[in-house]
Amino acid sequence: MKIEYEPIGVVRSPFSKRAGMPIQPSRGKGVQATIELRPKLVAGLADLEGFSHIVLLYHFHHSSGYDLRVIPFLDTEKRGVFATRAPRRPNPIGLSVVRLLRIEGSILYIEDVDLLDGTPVLDIKPYVPDFDEPVDVRIGWLAAVHRRPAESDDRFG
Ligand SMILES: C[S@@+](CC[C@H](N)C(=O)[O-])C[C@H]1O[C@@H](n2cnc3c(N)ncnc32)[C@H](O)[C@@H]1O
Repeated sequence: MKIEYEPIGVVRSPFSKRAGMPIQPSRGKGVQATIELRPKLVAGLADLEGFSHIVLLYHFHHSSGYDLRVIPFLDTEKRGVFATRAPRRPNPIGLSVVRLLRIEGSILYIEDVDLLDGTPVLDIKPYVPDFDEPVDVRIGWLAAVHRRPAESDDRFG
């Protein structure tokens, strides 16, 4: 089965290169960007401004191919791709929870971004702690390394 999506919009961010950019929204605190939504979808933004954070699902448009075992940014050991957030993956879909600053017409102003300029957005959803924050969380191999300083390099280019 093949699935085809049309982007609902595009990200405009300060990052044109991977090297040196944040590896997650938590590492891109204060970095601002916009999403230009397709004008015909603007009515779908009604009621979204009441949410401080949104979940973005998007296409890693600068990724091609994948490896099933990768060395993630925060580690030196190979890990199964599905145990990582690596951008080269069988379906190159990214997920970022970002702060929603405001909406003006078809433009969403967002903050805390780890997205390259031009990233095609597939969906936007409100972030709701009660829905999205499970309790008793384990974070596997990341427990030992997740607070390490790290920024993106070009390893997934
Ligand atoms: C480690 S991924 C995490 C993305 C997302 N927060 C996630 O967990 O799915 C973030 C890195 O992906 C790369 N990246 C960001 N936007 C991209 C795009 N549109 N195409 C390809 N790579 C991208 C950059 O190297 C960035 O630092």
